[in-house]
Amino acid sequence: MPETWWRSAVTYQIYPRSFADTNADGIGDLPGITSKMDYLAWLGVDAIWLTPCYRSRWLDGGYDITDHRDIDPALGTLRDFDRMLAAAHERGIRVLIDIVPNHTSDRHEWFQRALAAEPGSPARDRYIFRDGKGPAGENPPSNWESRFGGRAWHRVADGQWYLHLFTPEQPDLNWENPEVRAEFLDILRFWGRRGVDGFRIDVAAALIKDLREPLRDVVGGEGSSGLDDFAANPDHPFLDRPEVHDVYREWNRVFHEFDPPLIGVAEAWVRGDRRVRYIRPGELQQAFNFEFLRVRWNAAEYRRIVAESIAGARSVGTVATWVLANHDVVRQVSALGLPDDVDLRVWLATNGTEPSTDLELGTRRARAAILFALALPGSAYLYQGEELGLPEVADLPAGVLQDPKWVRSQHKEKGRDGCRVPLPWTRTGVAFGFSSAAPWLPQPADWGEYAVEVQRDDPDSMLELYRTALRVRREFGGDETFRWDDQYNIGDVLAFRRADSILVLVNTGATAIPLPDGEVLLSSVPLETSTLPANTTAWLRPR
Ligand code: NOJ
Ligand code: CA
Repeated sequence: MPETWWRSAVTYQIYPRSFADTNADGIGDLPGITSKMDYLAWLGVDAIWLTPCYRSRWLDGGYDITDHRDIDPALGTLRDFDRMLAAAHERGIRVLIDIVPNHTSDRHEWFQRALAAEPGSPARDRYIFRDGKGPAGENPPSNWESRFGGRAWHRVADGQWYLHLFTPEQPDLNWENPEVRAEFLDILRFWGRRGVDGFRIDVAAALIKDLREPLRDVVGGEGSSGLDDFAANPDHPFLDRPEVHDVYREWNRVFHEFDPPLIGVAEAWVRGDRRVRYIRPGELQQAFNFEFLRVRWNAAEYRRIVAESIAGARSVGTVATWVLANHDVVRQVSALGLPDDVDLRVWLATNGTEPSTDLELGTRRARAAILFALALPGSAYLYQGEELGLPEVADLPAGVLQDPKWVRSQHKEKGRDGCRVPLPWTRTGVAFGFSSAAPWLPQPADWGEYAVEVQRDDPDSMLELYRTALRVRREFGGDETFRWDDQYNIGDVLAFRRADSILVLVNTGATAIPLPDGEVLLSSVPLETSTLPANTTAWLRPR
């Protein structure tokens, strides 16, 4: 089995606008990332993934790109990017960047040309333009819906409609057009030559649409899990089409023009049985495990998903990924402090008041959850600020919300701003060390308590737990063996062996269990007796 760096890597996700600001405009930037590279090395991560830094209208957090070969002036320049990359590589940290192939910004030169061109023209064919239905074409070409709410079609002045699975300012590209395909191969090479180590692929499952006429309406829709449910809808007109794999086979060939080969990580909100198709030999290397992220502290669910994920990844010769958080979901300590039947979207709509979250419980579980995730075989993804135990800022006032979901849901869904609030670095200061100006999203008044500066000296802090876990993990992380320990893996307790010698116990239940004899390598809370309390994880070397 080829041992490659990414198989056991811990990758830290940076949301650049909220990481560190160096030029006092309240917006995090690339020099800010460079300035914190020692922090990332100290923390002990193997790689970083940056969400988009390209030129953008910033209507969807940078996922609305106007130029794929340049850095947005708000974040810096290409030179700043090169410096950031060099600073990372000097410290042995790999760098992944986001690539957004499903759509561009409406201000992208291609889309501007498409708008100016005639229906049926080559310029329009790079996107998905169609005539509408009805006598005057006044109805959209199909019933497809935008992920952010409302219909996925927008009508232009000459009466045609174009497809946008996200906002109308994010028109979908036509992946049946060879120019589109060639352009992205070139973009991959552009960044590969600059030195990036790989790509996180946005909306990886939706590039290919079934464009055979007449367009088919969607029947059924999403599964109740929030993952695209192909059991309910096996032949979806635009999600997880089989032809999408041709794209990744082509990309894989470009990845192998580099030494070591670049890697691709799919963002595909699909179920496990479909996810493995993206990581078959000759396609991508990893796919985010969103099923794992969706579990809210339920041993039976974890057990099922861990088993399926490991078996699925092994069946195609690769490893699973473990994801607990990202820039699109409610922060861990808040989510895990709520009863598991609370719908997080509804909770957010109440500004996080109905019900109120038990942050002490949530934090305790989040500590146990990270030791659980980091003990599993394969690679893990951490989202910035989770290592500080930051809560969701659920009460951001309506006036500062930026997520397009807020507007497009007619103010029913607050969206994702609450997990994107800038990081606190220092106990005090205008923006707690994030910036010397007011941050682009306001930080809560008590944010200083979570600052890196405060937690760094505290052995009981979340930050030190992460750092210690990353250090101890190096002892066994490269080993891909895993087996359940049938003696302890019962009911609310998850138990498995790693690298033969290590026993990992996760007690999700409400009562303590006896702890087997052995050396405790790490535990999510200090263990005072020879028991493992509720909501606690321990890594042991049994005697
Ligand atoms: C997934 C990204 O993670 C999310 O932030 C973005 O809004 C959508 N893709 C659209 O690009
Ligand atoms: Ca800045």
